[in-house]
This record gives sequence, C-alpha cells and structure tokens, in this order.
Amino acid sequence: MSTRHFIDASDYTTAEIKGLIDEGIAMKANPREYTSVLQGKALALLFEKPSLRTRVSFDVGIHQLGGFSIYLSPNDINLGKRESIPDVARNLDRMVQGVMVRTFSHQVILDMAEYSRVPIINGLTDFSHPCQAVADFMTMREYKGRVDGLKLAYVGDGNNLAHSLMHTGVRLGSEVRIVTPKGYEPDTSVVEWAQRESPATGAKVWITNDPAEGVKDADVVYTDVWASMGQESEAEERRKIFIPFQVNSDLMAHAADDAIFMHCLPAHRGEEVTDEVIDSRQSVVFDQAENRLHSQKAVMALLMK
Ligand code: CP
Ligand code: NVA
Repeated sequence: MSTRHFIDASDYTTAEIKGLIDEGIAMKANPREYTSVLQGKALALLFEKPSLRTRVSFDVGIHQLGGFSIYLSPNDINLGKRESIPDVARNLDRMVQGVMVRTFSHQVILDMAEYSRVPIINGLTDFSHPCQAVADFMTMREYKGRVDGLKLAYVGDGNNLAHSLMHTGVRLGSEVRIVTPKGYEPDTSVVEWAQRESPATGAKVWITNDPAEGVKDADVVYTDVWASMGQESEAEERRKIFIPFQVNSDLMAHAADDAIFMHCLPAHRGEEVTDEVIDSRQSVVFDQAENRLHSQKAVMALLMK
C-alpha cells in the first residue's frame, strides 16, 4: 500500500476529517491513554520558515505519544540546494517514521511526498496550512457544538490559511465566506474545487469584497496577517489596501451576538485585528493554539502508527 501523507484536507474524506477532530478531542480529554501510541518513533521537523506554535506543538505532541523529534533548521538541510528534494526524502525515510515540513513552494512538499516512504505532514506552505485548519474546526466544535452549517467569515488575505479553511470547511459542511480586498481573493483552483465539492456535504463557500456583508450574522470571525511569511516586502503596500478589512469592534458588531473571534497567530495587533477584539471575551485564539497540539497528535497517530 502506498504511504499516506497529510498534505491537504482535500485529500481526506469527510469521515476521516471528523475522525481526526474526534480523536483530537479524545486525546485532549485523556492524554494519559495515548502515551505509548508512537513508542520509540522519530519525527523529523523540517523548517524553512520561522515558527512558534507548529514547532512546539509537534515536538511536545510526538513526545506525549511516546516518540521523539529531530529539529532541522533552514540552515541544516537547505532543501533542494545542498541536496535534491528526492534525495532528502529518500535519506530521511531510512531513519525516521514521519516528516513534518514547513516550506515556501507547495511543489516542494508534493515532491517530498512523492519520494518518501514515510508520511509527510504539511506544516505550512505558501499554498496551505492544513494542520491549522483542523485545529480550528476542532475549536469551533468545542465552542459551538457543531460545525456543519456554521457560518465562518474569514476576513483578510486569500492566502494559505484561507485555502485550508475552505478545504476543511467544505468537507465538514460549513458556510465559509472569504472576505478580501479586490485582487487578493483565494486561488481560483481552490474556489473551483470548493464549488465542485460543496454539494456533497451541503457546504457553502462564497467570496466577497465587502467586509460588512461577509461578516453579517457570522458565528465565527477569523483573520490572519495581511502579509504572510515571504511577503515582507509587500507589507507596507498591503497595510494601506487591507485597512478596511481590519477586524475591530465595528466589524464584529455585524456578526452574531455570540460570535467567536479566531486568529491562527502570530497576530499583528493594530493591523488585521485590534487589541480590543483579540483580548475580548469573544476571542478564542489561545484555545486554537492549544488545539494544534491535540489535533496534530491525532494526525501523527493516524499516519505513523
Ligand atoms: N499558527 C502557526 O502556524 O504558528 P507558527 O507560525 O508560530 O507555527
Ligand atoms: N498566512 C500566515 C500564517 C502563519 C501561521 C503565513 O503564511 O505567514
């Protein structure tokens, strides 16, 4: 049987994604029952971009399952420069039982997956951030009791996170609104995929350039940085374009009264979100961060057992 990777939620069925969330919730409730699930197994953590949450949650997570991790910094591997991507994959799979990769080009992770005989887990690329979205929908389940039919308004850049929220939300039957400035909409391929796949789960995905319309009656208001890692040179220009899309109290007032506020973090306070909103009682951002740990333990257990 060919090796199963975790590249995008679109590669997984509705039942599988629900299963990951259920398992994450179970592991969070009873962590002691899972301490030898991956006894003695090694996970390589390959980073070409910085990280706080992803690094710590995978490192702590694999330890809690009985395994251990090896951190490889951008300078250690120099993917594709010091050594070709297929060769990196074919060396690692002789020594470790799983590889988490955070990189720029999505093609790099697809190439790793093609050549690796051990699972490759996507820890963020320029195209997607699937582990974040699974943790986020787990958090929505905890707060709202369900995710099907839930109205999620993602406000900001049509970036990697927007793509993964679309993938996961479609599989789980949610209403996902992507609210961006003109010219910053998500990738057409993901929008078309969402239109094709939504009828199977009753999901709804729509795109708008009007913040008030997008957030109207939303159960969840979500935002992310305006300039992602690798786009630092565009930050200043984007600050001007995105300011009408700032999540502040005025915008939150359009959402449902019991709406929650979400952010994958790191946050640029005063840009995409005000202190008032991120520090409010509606904000669940640190629960999201914690749920990276629990839901990724479920991903590792599924793939590396
Ligand atoms: N949300 C997230 O992936 O955070 P890091 O970039 O710190 O890993
Ligand atoms: N869109 C952001 C997410 C960070 C977790 C980035 O790629 O930098």
